[in-house]
Amino acid sequence: MQNVLTYLQENEPGFVRELCEYVRFPSVSAQSHHKKDVQAAAEWLLARAESVGLRARLCKTDGNPVVVAQTTRAKPAAESRPRPRSKPHFLVYGHYDVQPAEPFELWTTPPFEPRVENRSLFGRGASDNKGQHFAHLKAVEAYLKTDTELPCDLTFVIEGEEEVGSRSLPAFLKKHRNELSCDAIVISDTGMPDLAHPALTYALRGIVALDVKLAGPSRDLHSGIYGGSVDNPAMALCQLLARLRDKNGRITIPGFYNDVRPLSAYERRQLARIPFSEASYRKFLGVPKLFGERGFTPQEQRSARPTLEINGLTSGYQGEGSKTIIPAWASAKLTFRLVPNQTPERIRRLVAQHLRRFCPPTVRLEMQGGHGGEPYAISPTGPLAQAGLRALKAAFGHEPVLLREGGSIPIVTDFKKILGADALMLGLALPDDNAHSPNEKFSLDAFAKGMRMSALLWPELAAVVKISE
Ligand code: BES
Ligand code: MN
Repeated sequence: MQNVLTYLQENEPGFVRELCEYVRFPSVSAQSHHKKDVQAAAEWLLARAESVGLRARLCKTDGNPVVVAQTTRAKPAAESRPRPRSKPHFLVYGHYDVQPAEPFELWTTPPFEPRVENRSLFGRGASDNKGQHFAHLKAVEAYLKTDTELPCDLTFVIEGEEEVGSRSLPAFLKKHRNELSCDAIVISDTGMPDLAHPALTYALRGIVALDVKLAGPSRDLHSGIYGGSVDNPAMALCQLLARLRDKNGRITIPGFYNDVRPLSAYERRQLARIPFSEASYRKFLGVPKLFGERGFTPQEQRSARPTLEINGLTSGYQGEGSKTIIPAWASAKLTFRLVPNQTPERIRRLVAQHLRRFCPPTVRLEMQGGHGGEPYAISPTGPLAQAGLRALKAAFGHEPVLLREGGSIPIVTDFKKILGADALMLGLALPDDNAHSPNEKFSLDAFAKGMRMSALLWPELAAVVKISE
């Protein structure tokens, strides 16, 4: 193992240069004009995986390709039967697609011209998620290049549609179910409070996305000539949306909280261990005062309670100066974050019913369903989690914390349903990494420690799988 760790340490500068190359691809899955860049990023990753000694291929899907790279030196398992189980088999999941970089003008330097400053690598996708899965790839490289035997087989599954809802991945998993059958999925696509508090994430929120549009007059109208005799869709939308949440931060849709599993005393204690200062959190976010559901701490509110957010609100004239109109329509993009045991289907139905019930007859309501994903939780005290915690502690030199995260990785429940495997989430993102925001960065210390963690993880995981079989 020492060889592996030394290899990682000695080659870090080269790895950072490679990661810069990777971040240079504007692989924005949400924007069709970046289609070629998405493909190019996948091909680049494929070439990297091959050059570290993995057997790799691009798997076509209805959307963006999935990069599959495997360590096994034995013959590939036949597609039609489960793989022979000489060694435990783990999957490493990640995504090479990134969020849009807009608004560009808020970036200090261009989002796809990565640069390193003060042990941080700046660029869209550096933290979410290129740097994080790249750390795992480099750890495997270290095993292979130092001729150190891995205690397990590994398959990397790196997809290109995570930021738009992983539409093609379930079909991909079903198609390759035998080849991908495994003992656990390892995912580094979450966060940690700081470098002295490495974290194992044992729960994620789910999500329901919904676009709402209120249509009024057949065209924008003169607000002086007609105003007062027709409803204003922008006002109607504001009033409708205002019916969704009360001033205590509670969502007012009947039945919304019915399936929420309450936090246990153990969980509340674990969440309270995470270092947190309300004042610095408030400053960091730039808000005059925090807001959240009454009766819960900010940590609980942002990870273990369901929420509603308006992600975008559009209507009327947005240009320079004024324009006196009644807009023809108004629209909003909404997302709800869900917690166990809420289901996207039920929440979607309750929301739609509520909106229909309170939509005034003066406008027409149109709803368009977006992506959805179920919430997820594993046992924080099970053997997999314990193995992950040991690797984190050894690599970071600090006692790890147990986290619930507010973000969503909808595919984890598909992994569970299709492959029957649990996901172990060992995130390397720091709170100030600016994921989805301007000036995203990835800490090179998190990268270095993440590579060590990955190297140390495989023996820990292989040991618990063997014992439990
Ligand atoms: N890496 C994030 C998810 C995440 C971030 C989980 C931080 C926990 C903590 C992922 O890339 C992401 O952004 N997911 C989307 C999913 C959505 C597009 C379906 C999200 O959470 O908004
Ligand atoms: Mn993301």
